[in-house]
Amino acid sequence: MTTENLDPLFEPITAGHIELNNRIVMAPMTRNRSDDEEHLANDLIAEYYGQRATAGLIISEGIFVSPDAAGYIRVPGLYTKAQTESWKTVTETVHRKGGKIFAQLWHTGRISHPDFHDGRLPLAPSAINPHVQAYTKNGLADTVIPKAMNLEEIKTTISDFDNAAINAMKAGFDGVEIHAANGYLFHQFLAKCANNRTDNYGGSIENRCHFLLETLDVLTTEIGAENIGVRLNPDLNDSFGITMDDSTRPTFDYLIEKLNHYDLAYLHLSGFSKSNASSSVEEVIAMAAHFREIYKGKLIINRGFDAENAAKAIQKGITDMVSFGIPYIANPDLVERFRNNLPINKADRSTFYSVGAKGYTDYPTSK
Ligand code: PHB
Repeated sequence: MTTENLDPLFEPITAGHIELNNRIVMAPMTRNRSDDEEHLANDLIAEYYGQRATAGLIISEGIFVSPDAAGYIRVPGLYTKAQTESWKTVTETVHRKGGKIFAQLWHTGRISHPDFHDGRLPLAPSAINPHVQAYTKNGLADTVIPKAMNLEEIKTTISDFDNAAINAMKAGFDGVEIHAANGYLFHQFLAKCANNRTDNYGGSIENRCHFLLETLDVLTTEIGAENIGVRLNPDLNDSFGITMDDSTRPTFDYLIEKLNHYDLAYLHLSGFSKSNASSSVEEVIAMAAHFREIYKGKLIINRGFDAENAAKAIQKGITDMVSFGIPYIANPDLVERFRNNLPINKADRSTFYSVGAKGYTDYPTSK
């Protein structure tokens, strides 16, 4: 393979209001390194993102928008003043090195456990157990039947996202990504298997999309659509408590057409799955090709790409950018490695969710 084939990866691009130096995006990944009581970002987290600042864009790990949003241990937040302050070191480090970083805003909904909520039930669209496991301080625990959110709780949750988005901008992030993928709260509202509401947040396709679109209405007014990306996983099936049905594709067709009206920074489509059933690159490309016909804005796609098939997907016009997850864990200088056709380090799974620098900030650069 000659490096010439990879040229599309290194073309600058504008997404929203920001100029990205290349089309190589660092995918959002939970790394569980926020190990204090206040759920702060810390110097180790700043070092980790700083090491990866040559990415065209970094999308942060999922960050909880409120205590109610929690469903994993050692995940940072963006709802308190101290948390907002703590992220400034991260964004300054990335910017000093010429990078850009969006904050991924996350609410786990029913993929949580009463242990995170002083014994109260996790919030979800409907009282339907996803029958998966949540990662609590006592280890893996079976999920429970969650509490169906009332209208007041829906309103509060939207304002939690609003507050976190404002905090993200205050902390110096270049924008926010709404995590509406992987079976978490927004995805739960979208999916029939998780949402049997009979009010105007459930039932029809329009109603199941209502919660996400209403959140976007508020956030675009508050921080501007050009500062917002949305992540979806339209083909998720039999993972994270989500099962596809006849209305799944039409739901995403409707939703993604609606997203055209916002002029967002980007739409991020993923084929990620918790089981071994993640979509193949071919399946992700087929899915992206379908939604590319509907979506008029900038597109990022994800899951299992290498430099060559990523460059090809961009060159063919299937996507504008490609995000890389696991390769970014083990290769802080992934851009340089792609550019110079250098070998790619293999990531050590045993330290993906562990504590401290090992397997986090100690992967070598090629130099
Ligand atoms: C995980 O920690 O395994 C995880 C978190 C968020 C996701 C997907 C996976 O969207």
